[in-house]
Amino acid sequence: MPKIITQIADMQQYKKSLKSNDQMGFIPTMGALHAGHLSLIKESVAENEQTVVSIFVNPIQFGVNEDFTKYPRNIEKDIEILKGLKVDVVFAPQNEDIYPENFLSFVNVNKISNMYCGKVRKGHFKGVATIVLKMLNIAQADKLYLGEKDYQQIIIIEKMLADLNLNIKVVRCPIIREADGLAMSSRNMYLNKTERKNATCLYKSLLVAKDSYSKGVQSISRVKTQMVDVITKSNGIIEYIAFTDKDTLLKEKHLTENTRILLAVKFGNTRLIDNILV
Ligand code: PAF
Repeated sequence: MPKIITQIADMQQYKKSLKSNDQMGFIPTMGALHAGHLSLIKESVAENEQTVVSIFVNPIQFGVNEDFTKYPRNIEKDIEILKGLKVDVVFAPQNEDIYPENFLSFVNVNKISNMYCGKVRKGHFKGVATIVLKMLNIAQADKLYLGEKDYQQIIIIEKMLADLNLNIKVVRCPIIREADGLAMSSRNMYLNKTERKNATCLYKSLLVAKDSYSKGVQSISRVKTQMVDVITKSNGIIEYIAFTDKDTLLKEKHLTENTRILLAVKFGNTRLIDNILV
């Protein structure tokens, strides 16, 4: 049974009580845990003496018209899931303790926070970087486990840690998919039956791109046309398809072995993301 900690001071005290050479792995989450989260947690449990999972639906990473109020919350169920996993601590702080009334400080990773998802979700990555830095400062973790489904988020967090000289190792974990290829996400539960079926087109389009590249196609416009075709046939509304350098996230001119394709597609009001290394 994990220890449930809700107070910041108690989390800090817990860290102080550990042996100095105990490594702590940290998995930040907004709850609504699924197999994707569990893979990060299992990896941390296997690699560290201590594993801490945070559950906090971070208000400052949601835009005004986004799903903050309806974001799925079921902490009892989440804790039930975590019981079987040898997690040491669940850190579930209150909003007013994380962001008291006089809160004024934010972290912004310039440039790459304003591209792709950040172009539409204004301020989103500033909210993500701020909460992740706060969580790491509170827990004083050694390793941070992040899933590659949110690829832009990983690059931004790694840049923040490097730029601000934090000695924390990021462990990237591969995307976990449903049997039909849809990347696991807490937002998948918003999809109705038809949308859920159509949503497999994200991964299908990425596989089409990967296949074309493996056959020698390097033209981005050609591959993009193929992807658009797959997605629009499934009634997906494309927000962006980006061909990026996997390390810098900057746009590429043609496909190379370093190209990571990122995309965001909407079905009704539900926005899904996915990505692949070609
Ligand atoms: O990926 C998420 O669920 C969130 O962006 C994170 C990293 C937990 C920060 O709130």
